[in-house]
Amino acid sequence: MSNQQSNPSLVSKVAFVQGGSRGIGAAIVRRLAAEGATVAFTYVTSPDKAQALVSEVEAGGGRALAIQADSADAVALKQAISIAAETFGRLDILVNNAGVLALGPVEEFKLDDFDRTLAVNVRSVFVATQEAVRYMKEGGRVITIGSTNAERMPFAGGAAYAMSKSALVGLTKGLSRDLGARGITVNNVQPGPVDTDMNPDSGDFAETLKGLMALPRYGKVEEVASFVAYLAGPEAGYITGASLSIDGGFSA
Ligand SMILES: NC(=O)c1ccc[n+]([C@@H]2O[C@H](COP(=O)([O-])OP(=O)(O)OC[C@H]3O[C@@H](n4cnc5c(N)ncnc54)[C@H](OP(=O)(O)O)[C@@H]3O)[C@@H](O)[C@H]2O)c1
Repeated sequence: MSNQQSNPSLVSKVAFVQGGSRGIGAAIVRRLAAEGATVAFTYVTSPDKAQALVSEVEAGGGRALAIQADSADAVALKQAISIAAETFGRLDILVNNAGVLALGPVEEFKLDDFDRTLAVNVRSVFVATQEAVRYMKEGGRVITIGSTNAERMPFAGGAAYAMSKSALVGLTKGLSRDLGARGITVNNVQPGPVDTDMNPDSGDFAETLKGLMALPRYGKVEEVASFVAYLAGPEAGYITGASLSIDGGFSA
């Protein structure tokens, strides 16, 4: 059975998603494929889920490729992007979704966790963009999944994560200036609480989080994916350098 949208917006485009095997990233892979894009994506710990997602996309009539590459490893990440671009002959859309969440009070927070947070959540966005734009033409798209925690971190223990997501606001602005003359847009999507393995709706914090929002519910991965598909498409060509919230009013 085909999963194609009735009026697909990304036919003949090729996308690369960092961290696409689970959660928000997997929903983005599904949605971009449903819009007609060929989608390569990376994973680290979930080869079975990654392969199952490739099979699902193919069963829907699409094309997908899963590549094992740790976003903290610049060489592996660049290689994955070049494999995708060379396998499919082009690259139009980069989605930087891979992210880690390490929580803990400053007195106990390990520097290894601090460094890994920066490497996966921030440095990988710079590295992947450097590599991906070697292949992109006019109309290219760089979309990063930041977080509403760039705007508001209402709990103790989230300093490193909030810092990493705030860094993406500035990185997005700067990259948009570097790439604007080439007609490539760069944007940062900032979700609020979304039901995934990282932040389950049934988790310890869920009810407290809902109490902090204008819309007292968790977001769905499909809602974030739909926003990403819009930014990836031709109708979003005048949006760049922006950090855009999809957070149920968490930051309102
Ligand atoms: N869920 C939320 O409430 C929420 C809110 C705001 C922002 N975000 C952001 O949204 C993004 C996705 O979050 P999620 O909730 O979907 O997380 P998740 O459920 O933990 O899934 C993370 C995905 O990223 C991959 N990944 C993790 N570390 C990686 C690395 N070093 N290299 C390559 N891939 C890696 C994982 O691959 P494996 O399966 O192989 O481990 C998995 O596919 C993150 O950037 C997160 O900070 C999430």
